[in-house]
Amino acid sequence: MKLGVNIDHVATLRQARRGTQPDVILAAKEAEAGGADSITVHLREDRRHIQDTDLPALKRSCRIPINLELALVPEIIRIALALKPEKVCIVPERRLEVTTEGGLNVIAKEKALKKTIPLFKALHIEVSLFIDPSPEQILKASLVGADAIEIHTGAYSLAKGKHRRLELDKIRQGSALAVRLGMKVHAGHGLDYDNVQPICGISEIEELNIGHSIVSHAVFWGLRKSVEEMKGLINLKSK
Ligand code: PXP
Repeated sequence: MKLGVNIDHVATLRQARRGTQPDVILAAKEAEAGGADSITVHLREDRRHIQDTDLPALKRSCRIPINLELALVPEIIRIALALKPEKVCIVPERRLEVTTEGGLNVIAKEKALKKTIPLFKALHIEVSLFIDPSPEQILKASLVGADAIEIHTGAYSLAKGKHRRLELDKIRQGSALAVRLGMKVHAGHGLDYDNVQPICGISEIEELNIGHSIVSHAVFWGLRKSVEEMKGLINLKSK
């Protein structure tokens, strides 16, 4: 199972100061050094984290594939087609949401998807659709020509006890259905160090896209050393 590392939250921290730190290119390189199989970024319409200029810089610097998440918005589609990342993942987007809160409604967006997906496929860009594990949505994803689905694991990650097992079953059944329909299966959203392993037991899933938990974890793996380094500099100068 492959791991795509979503570095949006590194950009979120950078945008808090509208500066250059932390550097998303360095984040991508560190993720790659850690074994990431791809780098995922979401160019949102409101540009709250990843900026337009990050995209060509990432494309130039990464040796692993770029997976660009995008909403069905003409301006963003144009940018994605010009960038030519290896993969795109079409997601729903609402301006006031904190994060991508639910899967794309493929049934409601059928017409737009039938128009958009061939544009990417003509450039040999793999297209996945970020959807909930509902059989109707999965069936429609196959009918509109998606290469892959990315199953939204948000409900699974929030559920507890038997509800979590039920959500896991939905993901398992949805994955099997997608493979029967000839699509690849990815999954992501809310996956962390505690809940990822049951998902890894679903053999149909080829790729996980994980961001928030990895970036959060990285803060604590690096915080002590960073303070020590700063303390070292201060002590050196004040001796
Ligand atoms: N996959 C998709 C399509 C997403 O929109 C997101 C969130 O940006 C993720 C995966 C990663 O979710 P998280 O940051 O919760 O790991």
